[in-house]
Amino acid sequence: MGRAAVAVLGIFVADLAFKAPRLPVMGETILGQGFKDGPGGKGSNQAIAAARAGADARMITRIGRDTFGEMARKAWAADGIDTSAVAIDDSLPTGAAFIFVSTETGNNAIIVESGAAAKLSPEDVAAAEAAIAGSKVFLTQFEQPVETALVGLRLARRHGVTTILNPAPALPVDDAIYGLCDYVTPNETEAATLTGLKVETEDDALAAARDLVRRGARNALITLGEKGALLHGAEGTFMVPAFKVPRVVDTTGAGDAFNGGFAVALAEGKPAAEAVRFGCATAGLSVQKPGTAPSMPTRAEIEALLAQG
Ligand code: RIB
Repeated sequence: MGRAAVAVLGIFVADLAFKAPRLPVMGETILGQGFKDGPGGKGSNQAIAAARAGADARMITRIGRDTFGEMARKAWAADGIDTSAVAIDDSLPTGAAFIFVSTETGNNAIIVESGAAAKLSPEDVAAAEAAIAGSKVFLTQFEQPVETALVGLRLARRHGVTTILNPAPALPVDDAIYGLCDYVTPNETEAATLTGLKVETEDDALAAARDLVRRGARNALITLGEKGALLHGAEGTFMVPAFKVPRVVDTTGAGDAFNGGFAVALAEGKPAAEAVRFGCATAGLSVQKPGTAPSMPTRAEIEALLAQG
C-alpha cells in the first residue's frame, strides 16, 4: 500500500525556545536555563508529524528567501515532504516564534510572528489545487489568514477530501467556516474562545463540542492535554484517554503531533476512534522530547506505544 496523502496548509517559522522557571514581568530581566532554536510553525509541525507517522505529506505555505527559510527547506527535505506548493517570497522574511518553556512543568507560552506566511493568499492555495485534490485529508490552522484557510477548506470539500481545521490560535470567526469542517480540533482554551463557554472538565468539553457541531462542524474533537481527547458528532461521542508518559519534558507542539497523527490515521481509512487514539499516541511521544518539529515520533515509535496499550 502506498503512503496516504495529507495536504497541510499552514506556516513555517523558526522556533526560539527559552527555558526559565517563570516569565519575566514588564521591565524585568531574568536569567534563562536553556535555549534552543529549530523548525516550528503549527502547519509545518503538523506536516512533519504526518510524514514521520507514515503519510505522503504535502506542505502549502509561503516562506522568505533567508536563513530561516533555509531551515524550513532542510527540515522538509529530511522528512521527504512535498514542497511543490511552497511559495518563496522575495520581499518578506520567514517568521519566528518566541517560546517560553517552564522548567517546572514543561508547559509553554508562545508569541508567533508569521512573517511571509502572513501573506499566504487564496491565490497561493488555488495554485495548490492538485496537491489538495490528490490528498485523502486536508489540514489547516489559523496562523495564516482565515480567508486563506477558508479557500483551502472549500477546495478540499469540492474534491471530496476529508477536512480538519485546527483552530489555533483561536480567533473570532464566522460560523460558516464550521460547515466546511469534517473535524474541528481545538484544545480547551481554543474551544472556550470559540464558543464563549468555560472548558475545564470533560462535561464542559462535551458542551463546547455540542456547540461547535450546532454551528455546523461534522465533528468536534477537543484535546484536553493529559486527560486525552473528546470527540462528538457524526462519528459518535466518546473520550479517548491520553497515554501515560514517564516524564513530560516539553508540551510545545503536542497539539501539532496530535493533529498530524490523527490526519494520517484518517487518511489511511482508520475509524475515528482508532484515529483519535493514534493522535493521542503521537502527542504522548512528542511531549517526552524537547522542541516542536524535532520531537515528532516515527511510525515505529507510535505503533510500539499503541501495542503497549
Ligand atoms: O504549536 C506549536 C507551534 O506554535 C510552535 O512551533 C510555534 O512556532 C507556534 O507556531
